[in-house]
Amino acid sequence: MVCLGNICRSPLAEEVMRSKIKKYGLNAEVDSCGIGGWHAGQPPDDRAQKTALKHGLDISHQRCRKITLNDFDNFDVIYAMDGEIFSKLSQMAFQGGKEQQKIKLFMNELHPNKNLPVPDPYSGNMSHFEEVWKMIDATCEKIAEKMI
Ligand code: 4NP
Repeated sequence: MVCLGNICRSPLAEEVMRSKIKKYGLNAEVDSCGIGGWHAGQPPDDRAQKTALKHGLDISHQRCRKITLNDFDNFDVIYAMDGEIFSKLSQMAFQGGKEQQKIKLFMNELHPNKNLPVPDPYSGNMSHFEEVWKMIDATCEKIAEKMI
């Protein structure tokens, strides 16, 4: 799960997906990271933590990290939270000689071919985080259903 800062959207997506993996007993691993390393080593944004807790998930153990080329080897699918992230990942894969096919736009799993973003809630308020939660929860549920 990849977003810009790895403190709002992708930490939520990581933990929601982990909970679906557990719920359906899937044999899978999930991690998250950011295109930028500005918050490297930090826990997720307080608002993301509060939103997750409200829905029964604790994300306080997560630590922000920046994506590396190794991620393209270590994971089968790389989900971009929006089109800008998708483009950056695509550029990175091209320059590093990695597989483009692994990169997918996250929301397309729920709404195929619509190319919808998970909107960046960083400059928003708690209601934006709640909206992001709903999108992530529904999409991770769909991804898990396809993996059963
Ligand atoms: P995220 O949100 O990509 O969902 O983690 C952001 C977090 C931090 C920044 C931008 C977006 N930032 O510019 O620091």
